[in-house]
Amino acid sequence: MTSLLILNGPNLNLLGTREPEIYGAATLADVEAACVAHGTAEGITVACIQSNHEGALVDAIHAAKGAHAGIILNAGAYTHTSIALHDAIAGTQIPTIELHLSNVHAREEFRHHSYIARVAVGVICGFGAAGYTLAIDAMLAHLGEAS
Ligand code: DQA
Repeated sequence: MTSLLILNGPNLNLLGTREPEIYGAATLADVEAACVAHGTAEGITVACIQSNHEGALVDAIHAAKGAHAGIILNAGAYTHTSIALHDAIAGTQIPTIELHLSNVHAREEFRHHSYIARVAVGVICGFGAAGYTLAIDAMLAHLGEAS
């Protein structure tokens, strides 16, 4: 059965209480439950990992090789700083969608650059928590496994 990894980076464990006017009211548990339910409806498996640590995110990408067909990655602030995450995606060649709850391009200048976009299949941002299930659908279409 196809499996996707939902990988969330730093501060996303604070969803629900963190700047809700920007990131919404849904908690990370809400988001992950919606992803798992959507996956079940699509006949796939969805696994979820969150870490505040760059190296742990690199390790999760390495471990995804052979275990997951694709990654939905909200790397949080590491999006804008992490060559290591860029290299992990490039090195494993796992199809990855870059995701953000907020529209990073409508925000501060330092959020406009992404090290992930260059190695991503595509980018989804600005749709809040709904972006995660949109990203699952986009990944299944990319993989040719949309139901
Ligand atoms: C974010 C946007 C990033 O710029 C920020 O650092 C985050 C969350 C988003 O989901 O909108 O932590 O990735």
